[in-house]
Amino acid sequence: MIPKETVELIHQTAVIEDVIGDYVELKKQGSSYRGLSPFTNEKTPSFYVVPSKGIFKCFSSGKGGSLATFLMEQEKVSYPEALRIMAKRYNIEIEEREQSPEEIAAASEKDSLGALVVWAQKWLKDQLHNTEEGKAIGLSYFKNRGFRDETLEKYDIGFCPDGWEVMTTAALEAGYTKERLIATGLGKEKSSDGKLFDFFHGRVMFPIKDVTGRVIGFGGRTLKTEKKIAKYFNSPQSELYDKSRALYGIHAAKPHISKEDMCLLVEGYTDVMALSQCGVENVVSSSGTALTVGQIHLIRRFTKNVTVLFDGDRAGMAAALRGIDILLSEGMNVKVVTFPDGDDPDSYSKKVSSTELQKHVREDAQDFLAFKSDLLSEEAGDDPLKRSELVHSIVTTIACVQDAIQRSIYIQTIAARLKLPEDLLQGEVAKELQKRLVQDSKRSKQYQKPSIPRQTSPPSTPFPGDTFATQVEDDLAPGIPARVRAKRDILEDNLIRLLLEHGESMVEVEIEVEDEKETEGQDESVKESVYTKVTFAELLVHRMETHQLAMEGDSTQFILSKYIESLDDGALPTSASFFTDASPEVQSKAANSLIHKYSLSENWENKHHIFSVVEEDVLEESLSSATTRLLLFDVQRNIDKVIQALALKDVSEDETTRLLREKISLDRMVKDLNSSLGVVILPK
Ligand code: CTP
Ligand code: MN
Repeated sequence: MIPKETVELIHQTAVIEDVIGDYVELKKQGSSYRGLSPFTNEKTPSFYVVPSKGIFKCFSSGKGGSLATFLMEQEKVSYPEALRIMAKRYNIEIEEREQSPEEIAAASEKDSLGALVVWAQKWLKDQLHNTEEGKAIGLSYFKNRGFRDETLEKYDIGFCPDGWEVMTTAALEAGYTKERLIATGLGKEKSSDGKLFDFFHGRVMFPIKDVTGRVIGFGGRTLKTEKKIAKYFNSPQSELYDKSRALYGIHAAKPHISKEDMCLLVEGYTDVMALSQCGVENVVSSSGTALTVGQIHLIRRFTKNVTVLFDGDRAGMAAALRGIDILLSEGMNVKVVTFPDGDDPDSYSKKVSSTELQKHVREDAQDFLAFKSDLLSEEAGDDPLKRSELVHSIVTTIACVQDAIQRSIYIQTIAARLKLPEDLLQGEVAKELQKRLVQDSKRSKQYQKPSIPRQTSPPSTPFPGDTFATQVEDDLAPGIPARVRAKRDILEDNLIRLLLEHGESMVEVEIEVEDEKETEGQDESVKESVYTKVTFAELLVHRMETHQLAMEGDSTQFILSKYIESLDDGALPTSASFFTDASPEVQSKAANSLIHKYSLSENWENKHHIFSVVEEDVLEESLSSATTRLLLFDVQRNIDKVIQALALKDVSEDETTRLLREKISLDRMVKDLNSSLGVVILPK
């Protein structure tokens, strides 16, 4: 642990534009600096540093925060580690406080597993190239399959000898522990004597790396042809290796995915290598697991366009079809490339020239729905039962498409393709969407219950050969429909933005005071209006309290509470209180608003001489409309609850009457709130 005083000293000493300047070429612009984002491959600079506030903001990735946040993102390190980097640059000595054993254990477990797999990767690679067995068995295998040296080098391919304990013995000798060998799956305990054996013995080894290029796990392919041995073994899920967020090849592919704004998705390790060897480099594989939402989010950091390359075989097709629905549900644009029967990208690449392969992958990509309907159509033939199954399956997929316009275009084209009336298809899709909404709202009723699987994503099955495959959930809070969450998030964000940008502005408010007055000899209490000035922050907090509004998001609640606390001391929170020890989300929100306030608005006015009605002039209106919208959201949510309660089977008559009354009064509130927003609701 770094002592608190030292942390403060580091923050005070470090000059943000200097340190970030080591990573990004910054140009001065007014009171801030601007450069190309180090987080994306942008071509127009949208990365800002504001020295006076000690913050940075990257508009293309949405990241923002203090210098420490920047280093955490850039160097992929923890907060203390970022502080150490800053301290080192300014020769600040850190006398660390003793860490508790738990702290040490938690921090070092992942590092220790990481050290072991790095060691293993080097050792395995050495075995492949520099031992007789490795060369005779492993290397010759790859040569026979047409893989060149530079490809084996690029993917750090290795070989685990067929003796049962060669690798574990070497690892134990090198000082790695039995527990960690087991945790990484490199070693397994023999049931007979509890000694370790090499889990991957006799296999060629494919190291799996994370997006920064660090090794996190392995896939190992057997060279035996017996059917009962699983062709591939994969490292188990561990603190180091999170399968649901790993993609084979992502590190090497990432600059190419950005450049081509397209990611190719294949099934296997060898497919990735084969395509890369032919000059198709924007390729990754979800090796060993069915495609997960986490993996899609990883791709989405670089592109929204995915082309799925199908194996020619049946099993491959089914898996890829499931993957497509998940991709669509996550808002990705999806295309499909197929290969002749029985070929996978790897085998096909060995049959045609590199140019032909590149052309096939880039130019013969088909629309996913056209592909799916043709494929199923062919299978179903004229069998009416099969055809209705086909329609159902297509409808499920169309309902996954997130964009409404795109969805209706698909309905048109597919109706024509399958020779079905358009309204019929339209109706079926609407029904399916309705069904999902109901499922969503059922889940929102079960709000408190932990871990409800996402129902918008179709179920997926792991590869039969892989006992470790896991389907891991999205990282969002379970149970609440994403749509509902998103809407309230936006409303809360807007209020917090107002608070951060204008908290210290003074606004005039009218307050009523009661006064004792003497009229015609009688004491009378009269109400009188007086005008007074308060900070906008105070007004906002007051408004939220009168309407009993609360923030539901962790970061918005955190920021609001800082203001509420500060009102008691009469001073508003400093920006530092949002940048030290706060979550990345809080930091990003704070940076967003502060950048807007101090840099961008200034630039706009200076550069473009644009003077318009600034929000500052209409703060009260902005606040009323922001709180009204939040209130409206909550009222509407209550209406939904009442409707759900009414729909339950065993509601008594009394209860029904009560619910209906409640609904009427809530409906009236909606009307009033809307009219105060200037929204006119037409009668149905
Ligand atoms: N896979 C797995 N476990 C298995 C079979 C397959 O984890 N028992 C995963 C591997 O990641 C593999 C991918 O599924 O790369 C695709 O399987 P397959 O097409 O059978 O393997 P290929 O990659 O084509 O391997 P090869 O070309 O060496 O036969
Ligand atoms: Mn294959």
